[in-house]
Amino acid sequence: MKGKLYLITGNPGKLKEIKNRLDVLNVELGTLQEEFVEVQADTLEEVVLFGIEHLVGEKGIDLPFIKADSGLFIDSLDGFPGVYSAYVQDTIGNDGILKLMEGLDDRTATFKTVMGLHIPGEGVSLFRGEIRGEITLEKKGFFGFGYDPVFIPEGAEKTFAEMTIEEKNRDSHRIRATMKLVDHLSRE
Ligand code: IMP
Repeated sequence: MKGKLYLITGNPGKLKEIKNRLDVLNVELGTLQEEFVEVQADTLEEVVLFGIEHLVGEKGIDLPFIKADSGLFIDSLDGFPGVYSAYVQDTIGNDGILKLMEGLDDRTATFKTVMGLHIPGEGVSLFRGEIRGEITLEKKGFFGFGYDPVFIPEGAEKTFAEMTIEEKNRDSHRIRATMKLVDHLSRE
């Protein structure tokens, strides 16, 4: 792929997390500020596809871009907060999640990312990344954002928030999805 590739995001920190991996593509990276569009959907895939439809159909954005959506799916809460992760983080936050999980022995959870790649004239391709892990009993660490202080990825001893950005970026749901997208674009 040639030219410029945009990441639609309200959080520039996310570009930082995936920038290293996208650099191998030799494309210029940019961000486009996302306006909040409320969407009722059951899956991350629906959220991403709805978002892309809105950006292309209603906003008339005709550039190559990535629109991603992520969420934390906690097994013992039947996948909550899932597609509502951003809203739940902004309202009850990590303290609220820990409270909801008080007394629950099963702490397993999955972080998921779905990335939608829109290329004008070619349509949309979806790339998924997931990482299993556990919800802690208390918040730990100060790096990162969102649920990082309460999530320990499988095989690790510390939360995402106790890891530097380099450590977190060795492996995460977002990195796994990004690697699939990079692989796809490298073949073009
Ligand atoms: P987004 O779709 O990537 O904005 O993710 C939705 C919400 O999930 C964010 O507002 C965060 O609260 C949470 N989230 C997504 N990815 C991560 C992560 O890597 N660490 C911690 N929280 C995350």
